[in-house]
Amino acid sequence: MKALITAGGRGTRLRPITHTLNKHLVPIANKPMIFYALEKVAQAGIKEVGIVIPLGDKEIEAVVKTGSKWGLRIKYIEQTGGPLGLAHVIKISRDFLKDEPFLFYLGDNIILSDLSEFIKDFEKNKLDCLLALSKVKDPQRFGVPEIKNGRIVRVEEKPAQPKSDFAVTGIYLYNSHVFEAVENIKPSARGELEISDVHTYLIEHGRRVGSREITGWWKDTGKPEDLLEANQLVLSNLESEMKGEVEEGVVIQGRIKIGKESRILGRKTVVRGPVVIGENCLIENCYIGPFSSIGNNVEIYNTDIENSIIFDFSDINCEARIVDSLIGTNSLITSAKKTFPSGHKLIIGDQSQVEL
Ligand code: G1P
Repeated sequence: MKALITAGGRGTRLRPITHTLNKHLVPIANKPMIFYALEKVAQAGIKEVGIVIPLGDKEIEAVVKTGSKWGLRIKYIEQTGGPLGLAHVIKISRDFLKDEPFLFYLGDNIILSDLSEFIKDFEKNKLDCLLALSKVKDPQRFGVPEIKNGRIVRVEEKPAQPKSDFAVTGIYLYNSHVFEAVENIKPSARGELEISDVHTYLIEHGRRVGSREITGWWKDTGKPEDLLEANQLVLSNLESEMKGEVEEGVVIQGRIKIGKESRILGRKTVVRGPVVIGENCLIENCYIGPFSSIGNNVEIYNTDIENSIIFDFSDINCEARIVDSLIGTNSLITSAKKTFPSGHKLIIGDQSQVEL
């Protein structure tokens, strides 16, 4: 079995972060998001992976490289024709997939569970398609199955009136019958070849479409708050590791991972886990609270931080409390008290969000 992972899309709901970074490289607990998908694929015993990237993209390959780190062989497939929907992604990957069964994995989905049972179910029951479902509070954001007598009868994409409280997650298994569906469906009102229409096509043409509920946590990281929640999830399973230096007097509580060359200083400093701090950071006279991920080469002084993701090379010294925040690469946050006139002085990029 092969795997096909998506790493394209516009990431519009994550701007301004995604103006300069492919969404799939956003760090979750200091690891690019797409690494979680690659780990799951490798754990399921799959070796050959296609990653679908935007046309001309070099960013993903520069980070993911050959895949040997996970024992994978990776082929990068450029999405020609633009983002025209998930069924289009499958269509353009046909040369790579040939006629073999494959796992289709949306690179912005993060799960806890192992996919091996899912694959066993697909093989044992000789299915043409297996959908991973998850119960959600807001099914109208997703593909939603209509279920009658325990069987899916159709799947609707982002319906205003959902017929069940399940989302079809971004984890699917197919055999080569999927190509007949992607060739025959028509673009939706938003001009995309919808994956939900592929599923309805397969059902209506008598293919064996099964489903299985994902046990444990699943998240489609569309919005900033989803990223923070994914970060919380991953950090709640963090194992402590100390490679940096912690000055005497600093209070360390709970599970903390600190990378090499990082220094935590100051008699007032409290680091309360779970917290991950990358390499070559300097933190002095701060409170770093639960569910914070601090990237590499970050300096933070005189600041409280909680439940936030701070990207690499940021510099923060503001005598304030920062919560539930995403701070992009190379950002600078200083105290308004240091310069006149007093007041908040902001240089923020397009589509930024600030709560003062
Ligand atoms: C896509 C699919 C949707 C699915 C979701 C899961 O939506 O179109 O059917 O439920 O992924 O992550 P998108 O996140 O692209 O809006």
